[in-house]
Amino acid sequence: MRPLKKYLYSTCKGTSIVTTQTLVKSVVSAVLFTALTSSFAYAQGNAQAGQAKVATCAACHGPSGNDSVLPNVPKLGGQGERYLLKQMQEIKADIRKVPLMAGILAASTEQDLADMAAYFASLDAPVGAVEESKLAVGQELYRAGNASIGVAACSACHSPDGKGNAAAGYPALSGQDTPYVELQLKAFRSGERANDEAEVMRMMAARLTDTEIAAVASYVAGLR
Ligand code: HEC
Ligand code: HEC
Repeated sequence: MRPLKKYLYSTCKGTSIVTTQTLVKSVVSAVLFTALTSSFAYAQGNAQAGQAKVATCAACHGPSGNDSVLPNVPKLGGQGERYLLKQMQEIKADIRKVPLMAGILAASTEQDLADMAAYFASLDAPVGAVEESKLAVGQELYRAGNASIGVAACSACHSPDGKGNAAAGYPALSGQDTPYVELQLKAFRSGERANDEAEVMRMMAARLTDTEIAAVASYVAGLR
């Protein structure tokens, strides 16, 4: 490689190098993009097969996926399959850091992840309740957003009933554990969680106060 690089530099003042590298980069990212999108298209999850693979998950997420005994553990029952698969892939790859799950998915194949996602998606969705004092602020933010600080209505993506948009990979929030939701919004705000495409959640969370986060986290728990 070196002599070639030197040659190109000396003959074309580096222009060819830049062009070649850019070309290689765009080909690589095109291939990577195809690989990523096709993994969504081809790894068909089988809920029944998934049931046999989730025994270790129950310790924290509970047998129903929704009855954790630990705080800050998300409810997985009825969550969108595409969203669940994306999170598992990213937790496994340590793109989303979940220390408690370190190594748990290490031996899981892409098929295992798809099967577990299909299984949890097939379970009943959780049901929760909003704290009365948080209702007004939470509801306003969730349904209307806050144009003055550039925060979109959460309902636009997570749907008015909080069921999300499974096909688009927008997670359901209804009935989710309030402390968990609060933790995630703060993690997006600080950038500690950075696996949201196009920074969609980070940009909004960055503008929310602790009070607004607590209110909306309580509000979504009561949605159904
Ligand atoms: C030792 C406890 C523990 C075990 C065991 C565990 N998890 Fe988790 N899991 C967590 C915690 C805690 C989080 C949330 C971390 C955070 O704050 O981001 C999480 C997050 C997740 C999420 C993201 C959910 C969301 O709404 O974004 C998925 C999906 C998940 N776990 C799947 C699994 C699967 C599948 C297994 C079994 C193979 C498993 N977990 C085992 C503790 C655990
Ligand atoms: C433009 C679409 C969009 C809007 C508007 C939006 N979200 Fe999200 N939200 C997403 C997407 C996409 C994800 C999943 C990110 C990922 O892949 O990890 C997400 C993830 C989340 C999560 C993490 C869920 C989990 O199980 O870990 C929470 C909590 C959340 N959003 C709350 C909100 C709140 C509150 C609002 C309003 C202030 C809001 N979102 C507005 C698209 C949106």
